[in-house]
Amino acid sequence: MQHHLLGIEGMTAAQITALLDLSERHVAANRAEEKKSALLRGRTQINLFFENSTRTRTSFELAGKRLGADVINMSVATSAIKKGETLIDTAMTLNAMHPDLLVVRHPDSGAVALLAGKVDAAVINAGDGRHEHPTQALLDALTIRRRKGRLSGLTVAICGDILHSRVARSNIHLLSVMGARVRLVAPPTLLPERAGVFGAEIHHDMRAGLKDADIVMMLRLQTERMQGSFVPSIREYYHFFGLDRTKLAHARPDALIMHPGPMNRGVEIDSEVADDIHRSLIREQVEMGVAIRMACLQYCLGLSDGENGKVRGEDA
Ligand code: NCD
Repeated sequence: MQHHLLGIEGMTAAQITALLDLSERHVAANRAEEKKSALLRGRTQINLFFENSTRTRTSFELAGKRLGADVINMSVATSAIKKGETLIDTAMTLNAMHPDLLVVRHPDSGAVALLAGKVDAAVINAGDGRHEHPTQALLDALTIRRRKGRLSGLTVAICGDILHSRVARSNIHLLSVMGARVRLVAPPTLLPERAGVFGAEIHHDMRAGLKDADIVMMLRLQTERMQGSFVPSIREYYHFFGLDRTKLAHARPDALIMHPGPMNRGVEIDSEVADDIHRSLIREQVEMGVAIRMACLQYCLGLSDGENGKVRGEDA
């Protein structure tokens, strides 16, 4: 039985916990010398990326290969999309080749769900416009849970360009379902108009927003999604919203720093904090990305290395 993974919205705490638990086993396997298993042997995975990506595409590729699947990468530059083929035509063409999994990234919100409705394969959303990026939120949750031992009761400050961020949206849903307190810290121009509907606390000042936070999650200023100007200048943005030691001092003394990457050093984050091995989880987030994506591939195919052949939590 295949499942699509299109977003965190609508997922239950039990489903999320099951995915995190499943990923834990892959973390260990990924650190071993022999990394390959045969769980997805004979399955075909196509990574279809209509937007540039380094870590997400690479980690989906590694995840599939480590589970023994045949993995094919298609990127816009080399595909028929450049020749004018529509999203749906591309989906139908690929569908005819009987892939089991399609991992899709697209610049338009909703495009991945549209495609999922047309194909037989299980579809995983690797980021659609500013809508959702479910595997990023899951890998963030795994990283936090491994360090802090829990998600529930933690205060997580998500800071920066929330308006354009699918990472923020998926994280807000996930953290809320898992019982964390979410704060959104940004200038009013970089917050969605109805940011309040998410049930998060809103702050326009880093000091107040970071006060007693357990996790400080920084977001990239997504200039490619901006039409017009959203910040007066990069210098001013860095001054008020860039994370440096002084601003970090308002968070809890054991607060940890996260960033989904790619980072704009000196814009939303200072190198001194980004590279602080005691406080920064950025490298670990990348490592957890592979394990999470392995678990998601399994989940979508209804496969588990457990006894009953089911991914726990799926019926909850
Ligand atoms: C994010 C994305 O693409 O949404 N990056 C990622 O997946 N690692 C965040 C970003 O591009 O800023």
